[in-house]
Amino acid sequence: MKAMMLKSFGGPDSFELCDVPKPVPGAGQVLVRVHATSINPLDYQVRRGDYAELVPLPAITGHDVSGVVEAVGPGVKSFVPGDEVWYTPQIFDGPGSYAEYHVADESIIGKKPPSLSHLEAASLTLVGGTVWEALTVRAALKVGESILIHGGAGGVGHVAIQLAKAIGARVFTTVREANAEFARSLGADVLIDYEKEGYVDAILRETGGHGVDVVFDTIGGDTLSRSPDVLAQLGRVVSIVDIAKPQNLVQAWGKNASYHFVFTRQNRGKLDELSALVERGQLRPHVGAVYSLADLALAHARLESPNNGLQGKIAIAVEPSLIS
Ligand SMILES: NC(=O)c1ccc[n+]([C@@H]2O[C@H](COP(=O)([O-])OP(=O)(O)OC[C@H]3O[C@@H](n4cnc5c(N)ncnc54)[C@H](OP(=O)(O)O)[C@@H]3O)[C@@H](O)[C@H]2O)c1
Repeated sequence: MKAMMLKSFGGPDSFELCDVPKPVPGAGQVLVRVHATSINPLDYQVRRGDYAELVPLPAITGHDVSGVVEAVGPGVKSFVPGDEVWYTPQIFDGPGSYAEYHVADESIIGKKPPSLSHLEAASLTLVGGTVWEALTVRAALKVGESILIHGGAGGVGHVAIQLAKAIGARVFTTVREANAEFARSLGADVLIDYEKEGYVDAILRETGGHGVDVVFDTIGGDTLSRSPDVLAQLGRVVSIVDIAKPQNLVQAWGKNASYHFVFTRQNRGKLDELSALVERGQLRPHVGAVYSLADLALAHARLESPNNGLQGKIAIAVEPSLIS
């Protein structure tokens, strides 16, 4: 099969299109013909060597799969050949999704929502699972509460806005002006142009000084230490970003705040919950750009560059017919 191999850590050109043996499913495993995958910041972080000690080279990387079951190993109960499936491969544990075929344990695979294309489905598995865990499990966001979602036009942020609205929360989000309409179309109630106004002032003004119940940190920097300034009493902060420097959380005490850190974990249950929302029309990933597997370097370079003009996700068409 064709696969994009990462042979050394470095820039976007570090991938090489190679012929490698097709994997064989073992007991409890499923062989999937990959139709589409996508790109996440994790993918360029892995490529440039941020997690070098966890990724033995050469490696097939990539963290989203939408495809069709080709074969099943002994003992597989939930899938048969021909099923359309979606999932995030185990992170830092075996080959990823930048290949024509992938093998995974059936426990992390879900049935693809029928109303999504493969390009859309592959754009939702990792970010959707992360947002689900962050908002419903950790923040326990409730009907009528308020949430500040940083980076509302990004891969994670645009899904978070939709899930928060589906839960019934009031959504504040930081986006640059060019993405304001996009974020509003997803349901955001209050847009904060982070290039023009500090979000602390904006939140305090919009909430009459009360603050928000939840902050969802997708951008890092000093967000953890500044969040108490915008939190209501008993507020929750959920961060999904690697913390580059220690931060001072002293102000969190006065707000009775709690902090949660999420590193995405895979299971079928989360995918099934996301699928139900998709089929009810409450959640739809936005595919902002599509590249072929052969153009993976271009796709990585685009996601990695600042001011890349992207809204939502970059999908990768592994099946050539998916890209015109
Ligand atoms: N822990 C986990 O399990 C997990 C899972 C998924 C992602 N992540 C992490 O979450 C982060 C976001 O991922 P992503 O897929 O959403 O990335 P993405 O698609 O590149 O989106 C990032 C968004 O952040 C916006 N942004 C940048 N600086 C900002 C600022 N100062 N204020 C407000 N918005 C700002 C960008 O908007 P502009 O267009 O304005 O630049 C962009 O829309 C990454 O660091 C990623 O590694 C972690």
